[in-house]
Amino acid sequence: MNNNLIAVYPGSFDPPTNGHIDIIARASVIFPKVVVAITHNHSKDHLFSLEERVEMMKESTSFLKNIKVDSFSGLLVNYLDKIGGFVVIRGLRALSDFEYEFQMALMNRTLNKKIETVFLMPGQEYTFLSSSMVKEIAILDGDFKKLVPLPVYKKLKNQQRI
Ligand code: PNS
Repeated sequence: MNNNLIAVYPGSFDPPTNGHIDIIARASVIFPKVVVAITHNHSKDHLFSLEERVEMMKESTSFLKNIKVDSFSGLLVNYLDKIGGFVVIRGLRALSDFEYEFQMALMNRTLNKKIETVFLMPGQEYTFLSSSMVKEIAILDGDFKKLVPLPVYKKLKNQQRI
């Protein structure tokens, strides 16, 4: 095993959910070092700033020792180059995720032929879970406590009061 192997789990994480944490925990067992790389997704409007998302992710993954949380702007392939990584982790929940993920994985490999994307499946209790659903439930005053890590729950509750 290459002890310097870095796996990068990129995403917008707006906000992090228990499904994301489940994927990170699974990746942390397989890879010696996992970098959670948070960025702006240009096709989405984000509720939380990049700094807030980084902070929530740091607090939510502090129980895992081989995880680093970082942020980047621009292309993922350029970020991978910068940190010396070539493995991308993505979570795959259902068939509906597949087309977008397949397109992204192959586009990243077109941009840099060394890039390998590894798909991990979350625990089945998270297959229906998404950040956008969590936000909708929170905005409509539903109970989302079981869906997100505690720091995210507190942050979203505060957001609701604004
Ligand atoms: O959590 P998301 O929003 O589904 O993550 C998508 C993300 C951030 C991984 C993707 O949009 C991305 O890699 N953005 C960085 C810019 C980039 O490299 N775009 C080309 C991807 S083929």
